[in-house]
Order: sequence, then C-alpha cells, then structure tokens
Amino acid sequence: MKPVKVGLLGLGTVGTGVVRIVEGHQEDLQSQVGSSIVIEKILVQNKSKSRSISIDASKLTEDPWEIIGNPDIDVIVEVMGGIGSTKEYIMEALSRGKHVVTANKDLMALHGPEILAKAQENGCDVLYEASVAGGIPIIRTLVEGFSSDRITKIMGIVNGTTNYILSKMSMEGASYDAVLKEAQELGYAESDPTSDVEGLDAARKMTILATLGFRAKVALEDVSVQGMSKVSKEDILYAKRLGYEVKLLGIAERQDDQFSISVQPTMVKQSHPIASVNGVYNAVYVYGEAVGETMFYGPGAGELPTATSIVSDLVAVVKNLKLGVNGKQGVLTYKEKKLKSDEQ
Ligand code: NAP
Ligand code: HSE
Repeated sequence: MKPVKVGLLGLGTVGTGVVRIVEGHQEDLQSQVGSSIVIEKILVQNKSKSRSISIDASKLTEDPWEIIGNPDIDVIVEVMGGIGSTKEYIMEALSRGKHVVTANKDLMALHGPEILAKAQENGCDVLYEASVAGGIPIIRTLVEGFSSDRITKIMGIVNGTTNYILSKMSMEGASYDAVLKEAQELGYAESDPTSDVEGLDAARKMTILATLGFRAKVALEDVSVQGMSKVSKEDILYAKRLGYEVKLLGIAERQDDQFSISVQPTMVKQSHPIASVNGVYNAVYVYGEAVGETMFYGPGAGELPTATSIVSDLVAVVKNLKLGVNGKQGVLTYKEKKLKSDEQ
C-alpha cells in the first residue's frame, strides 16, 4: 500500500507529540497497517516560532488550504483547537473525502452530530478519542467495549489541569495561582484556562461521554456546571481534616429515560479510589447494568499521552482504508433525552 499522507493542523503541545510518536514508532505502526504514515504538511500560526522538535521547514505552512486543498493528503489530524475556522476546515476536508482525527472536545461537544453526519455523507471517518481523558481510551471503550450493556452512570475526573491544581493544593498546600501557572507551562491547560477552572472543559467532555454512553442526544446546555476557581486552600484543608478530598467531578446518571449531568467540586471520601487520583491523572467510572462497576485511569492531558490517542485513531483510520470500510462503522441511533431538571 502507498504511504498514507497526513496533514497536521497545529504543532503545539499535542501536535508535537503526534510528530514524535509517528516518527518514533514508525516501524511498529507500519507493521500494523502495512504502509508508512507520513506527515506531509503542518499548519501553524507562525512558521518562524522556535519549536521543541526539529522539523523540516518546508513542511510548515501558515495557509490551511495548502493542506485542506491538497489532493494527496488522506487524513487531517486537527490539534489546533478553537471552533470557528477549525470547524470550517474540518467540514471542507470531509467534503473533499479526507478522514479526520481530532482532539477538539469544544468542537465535538458543540457540533459533533453535524460533523459526524458530514463524515457519513462522504464516506469518511471522524475519530476523536483524544478529546476526552487524554491517554485513556474511554471513547472506544464506551462505544465498542460496552456495546452489549446499558450504562447507567458515568462519573469521574475528566480535567487534568484542575486535578493537578486541586491535588497540589491538597498535598503540598500550594497556592492556586502558582499551580495553575505550572499546569499551563506543562501544556495541560487550554489556551484560555478559564474553560478548565470554570468547569466548561469538563462539561464538554461529559457531553461527549453521556452522548456515547447513554446513546442519547445530549447537548452542552444539558450539563449543570460549577467550576473550582472559588475552592480555597482552606476549603481543601478543612475537607481533608474531615476525611475527604475535593475533586472536580463530572457525573452523568440515567434512570430509565431520564438523565442528569453535572460538573462540580465534590467532597470525596478519602477511602474512595477516586480520592487518590492525583496530578494530571483522570479516572472515569462506568457503571453498566450487566457489567457492574468499572474504572479507567490514566494521564488526562499532556503531549505524549494525548498524542497516543490521536495516533491510535490514525492507525484505526488507516486500517479502515485498507479494508475499504471508512465511514461505515454504523451510526448511533440516539434516544431523545429527558432531563431530570425538565420536570422541576
Ligand atoms: P497549543 O499548544 O496551543 O497548540 C496549538 C497549535 O495550533 C499551535 O501550533 C498553533 O500554531 C496552531 N494554531 C492555533 N490556531 C491556529 C490558527 N488559527 N491557524 C493556524 N495554526 C493555528 O494547543 P494544544 O495544547 O496542543 O491543544 C490542541 C488541541 O488539543 C485543543 O483542541 C485542545 O483542547 C486539545 N487537547 C489538548 C490536550 C493537552 O494536554 N494539551 C489534551 C487533549 C486535548 P503556533 O505553534 O504557530 O502558535
Ligand atoms: N485542558 C485539558 C485538561 C486538556 O486539563 O484536561 C486535556 O483535554
């Protein structure tokens, strides 16, 4: 099979990890898919910026259409973030028959159904494992691993930045501002960290998880959101003395056809396994009627963990290309949801 050519949109924290893994694991990837995977062109805002990896300068472009409009490019990997023009590039790429892998929860939580419909129309894959819980393969698990079950609860820590802040405040008595700065320097936080600390990033992820887990039409507005920016060091230390840790928890529950979804700072008993999930780590509990209680744990943000999910999606797209089954994995038929709050 001829080399599969990838257009990378973005070369920041995650994009850099994608280049490192595609180059560093090339032989392994090739042995799984039977062809080489080549990053053909990379979109950035500023070609002259200094980078933490060495990149052939001729691969960099500031013109998105050099990638979207390039007929040789088979797959777009979108790791630039944002919603407006990013959605335009993805929709245009799909209409030109290119497959898409994205880490963009903002886009998938808001416009997922429209993007997936466009993909279906054009026989393309859109995979977005990296959009929730970084390196934990939770989307694949919900869609494939639990296809036989009826999930009634999804609960967990789905934002690495805030968990990093809360656990450093709890374990080291560190100050909120100093740890937020650290999380930004480590590449965990969003370009505007307000969405992390005010719970919006977690709400977007819970929208995606509840949609897939409950096979229901869930919208971002259905999630009640409270961030953690007002949780003080004193609150955390007081909770600790009472035997609790404060965690920013996303909780999605279903009872028959009723759903409730929230994100809020929550006191978690120290004996509960979720209380000991610290640093940038995420944990997602999934309760299924048949399977019972399961838990998935791993790094929720950062360069290589996130890129692992992206490149695994890339491998899935290339395997589908080989089999000629892109865009044919079947579509979820969604239930109309009834929110508990609708009845109040
Ligand atoms: P980042 O470090 O800020 O990198 C963004 C990259 O995109 C940069 O290379 C930037 O170019 C480029 N870019 C941004 N806007 C552009 C535009 N309008 N035109 C051209 N290039 C543009 O972001 P990141 O942390 O890698 O995150 C990328 C995406 O992954 C976001 O959707 C984020 O939510 C998601 N994500 C991130 C993580 C994580 O741990 N960081 C984890 C999961 C998902 P320059 O380099 O020239 O500035
Ligand atoms: N800012 C996000 C987080 C990145 O901290 O979880 C991973 O989605």
